[in-house]
Amino acid sequence: MAVNDADCKHLFDNRYGTGQSAWEGVIRATNLSIAGSVAVVVGYGFVGKGVAMRAKGLGARVIVTEVQPIRAIEAIMDGFEVMPIVEAARLGDFFVTVTGNRDVIAGEAFEVMKDGAVLANAGHFDVEICKPHLAKLADRVEIVRPNVEAYRLRDGRTLYLLAEGRLVNLICADGHPVEVMDMTFSLQLLGLHHVITNRPVPGLHSIPLDIDTRVASMRLAAWGTSIDMLTPEQKLYQASWE
Ligand SMILES: NC(=O)c1ccc[n+]([C@@H]2O[C@H](COP(=O)([O-])OP(=O)(O)OC[C@H]3O[C@@H](n4cnc5c(N)ncnc54)[C@H](O)[C@@H]3O)[C@@H](O)[C@H]2O)c1
Repeated sequence: MAVNDADCKHLFDNRYGTGQSAWEGVIRATNLSIAGSVAVVVGYGFVGKGVAMRAKGLGARVIVTEVQPIRAIEAIMDGFEVMPIVEAARLGDFFVTVTGNRDVIAGEAFEVMKDGAVLANAGHFDVEICKPHLAKLADRVEIVRPNVEAYRLRDGRTLYLLAEGRLVNLICADGHPVEVMDMTFSLQLLGLHHVITNRPVPGLHSIPLDIDTRVASMRLAAWGTSIDMLTPEQKLYQASWE
């Protein structure tokens, strides 16, 4: 079951779960102030939107880098600066990669970063930040706090890599808040139940809309929130357009 495609997964787990827990990981690991800093968010998908939104809320000036024009427009219209990574690299105090891609911070970007910049990944595996290139620039690597490696570069600068470039929110913090994981796990469980009861042909299947809606309704009920229902006249009106 393609659980990530369900609204109750990517709209909440990816965005609000990672948005909160990635910064919690950075803060726990470094104890540095996000307020007053420049935070560079690499990738403006569902995760990037959450990470950028929370960085702004913590008082950072936020720069977004993207490769998709539409996502870049979203970032600009959400109030963030957008520029290529080599330009953002010169300005950032914190970098959080959230692309699902490899080497999104690599090469020239490391060479122009400020002394003391902090690098973290909350997207995929430890390939988003190109560690081999970073290692080539360094003459030694020291662990300066738990989960914080200081890459002492030959030109005198230090770049700090959190969690060895692995998921910062899982390694330096406790992962997503329970309210979010409740929805993700509910989708997984109800998805599995759907497979067992309906026996679909082997292949990749979407979570059925009624399961997505049921999980959302359970989340609302757990918060004690009720919402309006369509009247019969409204249903008829909505169905009347031809
Ligand atoms: N840390 C966690 O707990 C957690 C939770 C959910 C998802 N994830 C992971 O986060 C990653 C992103 O998830 P998503 O839902 O936001 O995906 P998404 O596909 O919506 O967004 C990824 C974005 O990265 C952009 N991108 C790709 N290559 C890039 C590059 N070189 N430079 C800049 N931007 C680039 C894409 O254009 C896209 O907009 C995935 O790998 C996913 O598995 C992590």
